[in-house]
Amino acid sequence: MALERTLSIIKPDAVAKNVIGEIESRFEKAGLRIVAMKMVQLSREKAEGFYAEHKERPFFKDLVDFMTSGPVVVQVLEGENAVKANRDLMGATNPKEAEAGTIRADFAESIDANAVHGSDSTTSAEREVSYFFSAEEICAR
Ligand code: PPS
Repeated sequence: MALERTLSIIKPDAVAKNVIGEIESRFEKAGLRIVAMKMVQLSREKAEGFYAEHKERPFFKDLVDFMTSGPVVVQVLEGENAVKANRDLMGATNPKEAEAGTIRADFAESIDANAVHGSDSTTSAEREVSYFFSAEEICAR
């Protein structure tokens, strides 16, 4: 078992629905610790940089429009196999395909407004965590 960190974002749709606490609670109940956290309004530049690997995809503009449509909560989760543990809690990208009981099945509306983001690998997690947080902002337990 590996102690990992992963980046999680509660997206504008879930913030607007007032379910921040319910989502955080799922992370904690699964044994993931929140070691850094902030609420931010992303600029287009910040969102475009975060999703740069998707810039040629047809949905890129919609994704950036959505991620800048309201505040998001960005956090670093730490725990055993945190990358996979978080993705299991989130469920499939398209909420219609997400398993019952997952965050997206319970709170997401569509593939673009899908409640949460989670790093897809430890390599992405390293880049994404440092994209949002300095070392001083992460409180190791
Ligand atoms: S991939 O190819 O597996 O990396 O792509 P995927 O994980 O499916 O999607 C990457 C992110 O793009 C979002 N997405 C969309 N946004 C708007 N419209 C459409 N059609 C769409 N399809 C995918 C998806 O929610 C992913 O966002 P993150 O924040 O990474 O979960």
